[in-house]
Amino acid sequence: MLANNTDTKFWDKQATNFISWFSKWHTTYSGSWDTGDTKWFAGGKLNASYNCIDRHLLDKSDRIAFMWEGNEANQNINISYQQLHDEVCKLANAMKNMGIKKHDKVCIYLPMIPEAIFSMLACSRIGAIHTVVFAGFSHNALLDRIQASEAKLLITADAYMRGDKYIALKNNVDLALNNHHNSIAKVVVVDQSKYITNHNHNINWITDRDIPYEDFISNQAVTCQPEPMDAEDPLFILYTSGSTGKPKGVVHTTAGYLLQSCMSFNNVFNYTSSDIYFCAADIGWITGHTYIVYGPLANAATSVIFSGMPMYPDETRILQIIDKYRVSIFYTSPTALRMLMSKGDQALSSSSRHSLRLLGSVGEPLNPDVWRWYQHKLGKDNCKIVDTWWQTETGSIMLHPTTDNQLPGSVGKSTDYMPVVLLDDDGNEISGTGTGMLAIAKPWPSQVRTLYNNHQFFMETYLQCYPGYFFSGDKAHRDKNDNLFIIGRMDDVINVSGHRVGSAEIENVLIEHPKIAETAVVATSHNIKGECISAFVKLIDGCKANSELYSKLEQLINEKIGAFARPENIFIVTDLPKTRSGKIMRRILRDLVNNKTEFGDTSTLTNPEIVNDLRSQISR
Ligand code: PRX
Repeated sequence: MLANNTDTKFWDKQATNFISWFSKWHTTYSGSWDTGDTKWFAGGKLNASYNCIDRHLLDKSDRIAFMWEGNEANQNINISYQQLHDEVCKLANAMKNMGIKKHDKVCIYLPMIPEAIFSMLACSRIGAIHTVVFAGFSHNALLDRIQASEAKLLITADAYMRGDKYIALKNNVDLALNNHHNSIAKVVVVDQSKYITNHNHNINWITDRDIPYEDFISNQAVTCQPEPMDAEDPLFILYTSGSTGKPKGVVHTTAGYLLQSCMSFNNVFNYTSSDIYFCAADIGWITGHTYIVYGPLANAATSVIFSGMPMYPDETRILQIIDKYRVSIFYTSPTALRMLMSKGDQALSSSSRHSLRLLGSVGEPLNPDVWRWYQHKLGKDNCKIVDTWWQTETGSIMLHPTTDNQLPGSVGKSTDYMPVVLLDDDGNEISGTGTGMLAIAKPWPSQVRTLYNNHQFFMETYLQCYPGYFFSGDKAHRDKNDNLFIIGRMDDVINVSGHRVGSAEIENVLIEHPKIAETAVVATSHNIKGECISAFVKLIDGCKANSELYSKLEQLINEKIGAFARPENIFIVTDLPKTRSGKIMRRILRDLVNNKTEFGDTSTLTNPEIVNDLRSQISR
């Protein structure tokens, strides 16, 4: 694979242009997808934090790296590249002094505050591997990720506001760690409650474990030599949902990931030094890693970082931010756009948005009507649209339209250096117009290297389904001009507002309830969220449904995963459609909740009468 010289030359050139190396690589690519052994830029030494900070200091030390806006519009902090350097070094030194070493894992459980970025870069500075857990995850989900990653240190905050909701984050940490086996030795706690005046804080403190962030970094030197890392040293682990009940620890390595973060940010957004960039994602997800932290900072960009809610205090918040900071590049999810769109033109009239020139979208299909609204209404016909397709596993954008090929609903065309193909059910490439499974035909530098502690599962999930291809799990259509259109997931992964949630993860939680005999969870289309979760639940004989049961099930999801994974619909049903071997036919449930009237082949069902029964049970 990748035998041809052109690709090697192409990637050599990119690695030279975009990355500052301590020592140059000797082998551009080696490895094989047969064993899942992928190495890029072997022999090369570099440091991600050096590339995101130090190399800009000579002539851009005063440039603003990011302008932070808190939950309230009057909470603002600007951080220059020099300040970023100093804060990252202080934290890096504090971690080193505590005994955190190269390859140790550090868990970051923080809202969208500057310290989240300092923490990620401080890890990469000393060669520690960060694993960021989205602050919307519950204490159980946090514990799962800590146990799976074997993190030694946890960086968190005491409490924060999300809109008008008080989030007792440290409380979640205590619930996760206290009385549960885990690898965390110390917890560093950022004081965020200082921003909240109208609340009684009741923050529990374990004196020999918990350290205030301010104390942790006080008296630390503002210089810290960046650790020279091997190109293939892991940079981070990020847990994402798949079709099994357990989240997968996606491992990204230093050089390949950093190269494509930097290069794609530059190319896809046609970034120039006069741009102000705003990505309204969260660092807890891959978009935040690549397009809030590593991509923009490696390009010495100036970004807006926002830790509030798009609809708080009202629906004009994002638009106000665009005007206030003169944002020129805006990158968000279709859910956020649909939310704004649903508020009508009135909301738009509150801002000018004159500064915008490029609008990006990520995470879910951007339907043509929303695409047009984005261009005509939000962008006032002054902006190009880039709908970008990629995944946690790809590390960076794989497909995007060019600014001269603007087609509503399309994510652009495949390229020679990252060929994206469509496969039929037998794994044969479809040529020309067609619909099939989206797969990637050649290794690329920012590809996931393995699933942490589970290489076999990595092989089975991505590389062995269709040998010679990297399987994405998505389905797409290609038109006669080679433009690609993403249809959605083909597996049991639900994309709620651009957040991946596995059906099995939710089923595993629901089944814990003593009244529940069986459950099946499927995606349902939703006019704002794109997809939402519908849970079908069969009770144990003799048990009755009541409102308490519904709230208990919701509470279980809140506690075990997080509120963002709460089902929109819970249907208590008498039975589930099953094959003779006892497998639940989710396809039928999916068709039912999406109001389809044709159910395809139902001949393998042992209980075909259930289809009509379920239809009437759902409508009730
Ligand atoms: O189904 C695709 C969808 O999001 C999935 C990846 O989710 P995650 O790893 O959480 O990363 C999201 C941010 C990159 C994909 O398998 N997806 C991503 N981008 C698009 C998309 N679906 C349609 N259009 C997109 N532009």
